[in-house]
Amino acid sequence: MNNQAWIDLIRDIPDFPTPGVVFKDITPLIGSPGGFAAVVHDLATKVPADIDVVVGMEARGFIFGAPVALSLGTGFVPVRKPGKLPGEVITTEYELEYGTNSLSVHRDAIPDGSRVLIVDDVLATGGTIAATARLIKELGATLVAVAVVLELDFLKGRQFLSEQGIEDVIALTHG
Ligand code: PRP
Ligand code: MG
Repeated sequence: MNNQAWIDLIRDIPDFPTPGVVFKDITPLIGSPGGFAAVVHDLATKVPADIDVVVGMEARGFIFGAPVALSLGTGFVPVRKPGKLPGEVITTEYELEYGTNSLSVHRDAIPDGSRVLIVDDVLATGGTIAATARLIKELGATLVAVAVVLELDFLKGRQFLSEQGIEDVIALTHG
C-alpha cells in the first residue's frame, strides 16, 4: 500500500465514547493486511536508529509497538494499566478528563542506560506518553523518541510533551 493510503482506513465514529467526541477507530486499519503492514513499515522507517527497546502502552500501544519492535530487531516492553503485571513494578499516575489513571512497568524490564522508543496509536493530550516517559526515566533509561500513528493537533499534546522536555515526537498523520 503506497503513499500513506492506509490513512483512509482510520474511521471516524461520531459521539463515541461520549456525545460530541469523534473517535478515531483504527480497527479497519489493523484489520487490513496491506494497511497494517504499511503503517508498521512507516513507523519503523521514520524512527531513529540505535533503539534498544520499544515500549508500548496498554492497549492500543501494544498493537503497533510489538510489530515495530520486531521490525527494528529489539525487544518489546509493555506498560500496563493497574494490577496486570505480576512482578515488582513502578507506577505513575496521569490525568484523565475526569479523575486519574495509572500505568505500571516491571522494575527490571528495561536495562539501565537503554535507548528507548515509545510507540502508541494516538497522541491526544499527551498524558499517557508523559506518564510512560516518567517510568522510563525512573528506570534510568533514555527516551530517544516517541512515534504515534495519529496526532490530534487540536488537543495540543505536542506542546504539553515539550513542556515536559519531550521534543522528539514523530506522528505519521494528523487529525
Ligand atoms: C488512548 C490512546 C492513547 C491515549 C491518548 O488510550 O490509545 O494511548 O488514549 O490520549 P492522551 O494523549 O490524552 O493520553 P486509552 O487508555 O484511552 O485506551 P486503550 O486502552 O484502548 O489504549
Ligand atoms: Mg492507549
